[in-house]
Amino acid sequence: MKLSWLLLSLIVLMSAPRAKPASDSSCIHNDEEFFKLIEGESFYFEIEDPNLPDENITWYKDGPEIQNITTEETHRIHYHGGALLFLNISAIDSGNYAAREMTPSDKCVYHHVKIEVYSKNSREKVTYGSIKNSDQNKLIECPDPVDYICMKFNGNFTWLKGNNLLPGHHENKLWIENAGKKDEDIYTCVCTWIHNHKMYKTSGSRKLIVLDRPVYRDVEIISPTSKEQLANKGISIKLNCTVYCGINAQRECKASWYINNEQVNQMDGYSETTKLEIKYPSNNTFYTAILTIKQVSAEDFKHKFMCKGSGFYSANNTTVTLKQRESCIPLIITGICVFFIGVSAAAVVKYFAIDLALLFRPCLSPSRGNNVSDQTDRLKMVESYIEQSRRLIVILTPKSGSEVIKNPASDQTLVIGGFDWQVGLHHALVQREISVILIQLGETGPQGYRHLPPGLQHLIRKSAPIRWPEGSRKALKWNSHFWKRVRYMMPARPAKKMGLSAVI
Ligand SMILES: *[C@@H]1O[C@H](CO)[C@@H](O)[C@H](O)[C@H]1NC(C)=O
Ligand SMILES: *[C@@H]1O[C@H](CO)[C@@H](O)[C@H](O)[C@H]1NC(C)=O
Repeated sequence: MKLSWLLLSLIVLMSAPRAKPASDSSCIHNDEEFFKLIEGESFYFEIEDPNLPDENITWYKDGPEIQNITTEETHRIHYHGGALLFLNISAIDSGNYAAREMTPSDKCVYHHVKIEVYSKNSREKVTYGSIKNSDQNKLIECPDPVDYICMKFNGNFTWLKGNNLLPGHHENKLWIENAGKKDEDIYTCVCTWIHNHKMYKTSGSRKLIVLDRPVYRDVEIISPTSKEQLANKGISIKLNCTVYCGINAQRECKASWYINNEQVNQMDGYSETTKLEIKYPSNNTFYTAILTIKQVSAEDFKHKFMCKGSGFYSANNTTVTLKQRESCIPLIITGICVFFIGVSAAAVVKYFAIDLALLFRPCLSPSRGNNVSDQTDRLKMVESYIEQSRRLIVILTPKSGSEVIKNPASDQTLVIGGFDWQVGLHHALVQREISVILIQLGETGPQGYRHLPPGLQHLIRKSAPIRWPEGSRKALKWNSHFWKRVRYMMPARPAKKMGLSAVI
């Protein structure tokens, strides 16, 4: 009776793994563990006490067909209580494994393990998390499962950087001093261990990422630069709060706006956007907070807007107030007025140019004597007079050949074609010492000036003659337009020798 019960329970125990585990609904299912392993290596792990009596636990590989795992040491995959061994792993070992455990209190617990096998060349996919910090000396620790196997089987450590052996390193941790970008790589901790007089190998890799070292500064406010900001009521405006925190100083680097010491976040009519910026290649670190006032109100002109910046070691702030922007209309009106005054003044000056020139001439003209030295010889005298003359007046009459030339300085009348006329014309045309004033009496007639000597024609072409307004009573007056023009063309008289009658 007792024997038959024992036999029965043995049969039940042996046949239990063959039953579909999912149907065993009264059992507890633990969370699945997951390992990525490398082909050709070996692996050992415990999901329960390895000293658990082998009968209390049964291991199998799940799948369409359940494959039992035994404690047979000659099998590549075998177990010892709660521990499972994979020796010389092969690609076909990938899959889901489970263990059914009967606890001393007769409860049933399922343990689930997932294994993925990778080739040696895809080591990067099997890394155990990367090391990423800005420490000067980097510590790389052998991944826990590898470290555990080595400890368990009293194995030896070696380290690889990429595929190269790092000689002299046999600890379960590796220090890299003064790490720089050149040290970035995949570091592999390799453990060689012995089981049943055979040597096995297990490895685990970590990726090292070297971050640039930070240089923290006292927080500097880059914007705003002034205490006042011009704004228009009813118009949207943006306020820029930008702070500088240092180099690679993103840690704790922040900026934000406060209105009357309250954070802007949830205030109606205001919004804030923020941005951390690390400039390349300097790695200068800035943080910007842009406050948008959707519509500037009368109240806003009384508010204190505070830009607050904080960094790793320090904080800083500055306050801005809004100021109503001045209207530019008065400025435009002033500009227009100045323009019109200027134009009017120019028009008046142009209209009265001659009158003004005559008015100021006595004051401005240089005094100059008019000595005529005594001459015996008439020709020399004529020449001397002509030389001293400053204007040559030519009066053109309708009849040809009856021109009268008058030299105002000498009061001499020159006959056309005569020596004095020739000398005068020579001085005007060739030496250009005398200016010529052309006055025309009456009409020119159908032939124009063509009958006149070529030199005279040239002078007429250069400057049009002043016409004597015949029959005009007004023209007789000394301040008539005609005489003003004549006087205007005459040289200025010395201030002390006033008196127009002497000229005309
Ligand atoms: C570990 O190193 C020791 C000392 O060098 C050596 O005696 C032992 O055989 C090594 N074990 C393995 C598993 O390589
Ligand atoms: C804010 O001010 C900083 C510093 O003057 C400037 O570099 C940045 O472009 C500004 N940002 C905006 C959005 O105006």
